[in-house]
Amino acid sequence: MNATLAPASSSNQSSAALPKTFQTVRTPDPEPRKVRVHAQDVSVFYGPKQALFDVSIDIPEKAVTAFIGPSGCGKSTFLRCLNRMNDTIEGARVSGTIQLDGEDLYDPKLDVVELRARIGMVFQKPNPFPKTIFENVAYGPRIHGLAKSKTDLEQIVVESLQKASLFNEVKDRLHEVGTGLSGGQQQRLCIARAIAVSPEVILMDEPCSALDPIATAKIEELIDELRANYTIVIVTHSMQQAARVSQRTAFFHLGILVEEGPTEMMFTSPAEKRTQDYITGRFG
Ligand SMILES: Nc1ncnc2c1ncn2[C@@H]1O[C@H](COP(=O)(O)OP(=O)(O)O)[C@@H](O)[C@H]1O
Ligand SMILES: [Mg+2]
Repeated sequence: MNATLAPASSSNQSSAALPKTFQTVRTPDPEPRKVRVHAQDVSVFYGPKQALFDVSIDIPEKAVTAFIGPSGCGKSTFLRCLNRMNDTIEGARVSGTIQLDGEDLYDPKLDVVELRARIGMVFQKPNPFPKTIFENVAYGPRIHGLAKSKTDLEQIVVESLQKASLFNEVKDRLHEVGTGLSGGQQQRLCIARAIAVSPEVILMDEPCSALDPIATAKIEELIDELRANYTIVIVTHSMQQAARVSQRTAFFHLGILVEEGPTEMMFTSPAEKRTQDYITGRFG
């Protein structure tokens, strides 16, 4: 938001070819869910290049929403808008409105560090801190002052590791470095780290793309458990994964949110031809 917009120089082929007006096709859930995150007309520019065009979507609580679409369509860009990670990218500019329970996430008075605890993020490549397993999880609660005592902190760490389905595998080596774990364990450690600060929303950007099928299955199982208590958004390039873990799916193409609806419907009878073409593997 603080970055400057560079002068438009070379025209951009893909964005020049996009229609100026379009309408996202939306299919509501049969049983309406409570909306936690509301995004309205969100556009993102990287310097002169527009990467997202007026994206509007409601993200429901206690459900997994999957963002799908071909590489470069803006999935990660939009995900980063939801906890203001684009603020950290030089030259990036975001316009539009994003609210969490009606509160403006782009309010200049808002504490962005606190916001990123409320809306946590798990990245493509597991990125534990070069610290012990215990310290990876204890770090957030400590800087946010969430533990009243040492025992309290220990309890938060244990519970977070349990919720991330990792505790049993690491309980005898909590004071060994987190980076010594397997890839799948590291990713669950990163999920435990996100959970430790009691987030309301968890954003995951292709969290399994660096993992083998067994580790992937574990993370998918975990996501399914977590949805009972959290609002989850996952970016995935795997349509099978979106179908397995999500209740709602949003399909992006060339920076546009083409269609969103209940996952089952999106994969069996999407309303838009472009969605159909993508899910049947005609492009992407
Ligand atoms: N930091 C950045 N600087 C400039 N352009 C970017 C940056 N990140 C992404 N883009 C561009 O924005 C578009 C959307 O990218 P991205 O959100 O990463 O897509 P996806 O996650 O769907 O693959 C792409 O054209 C990409 O090249
Ligand atoms: Mg991406």
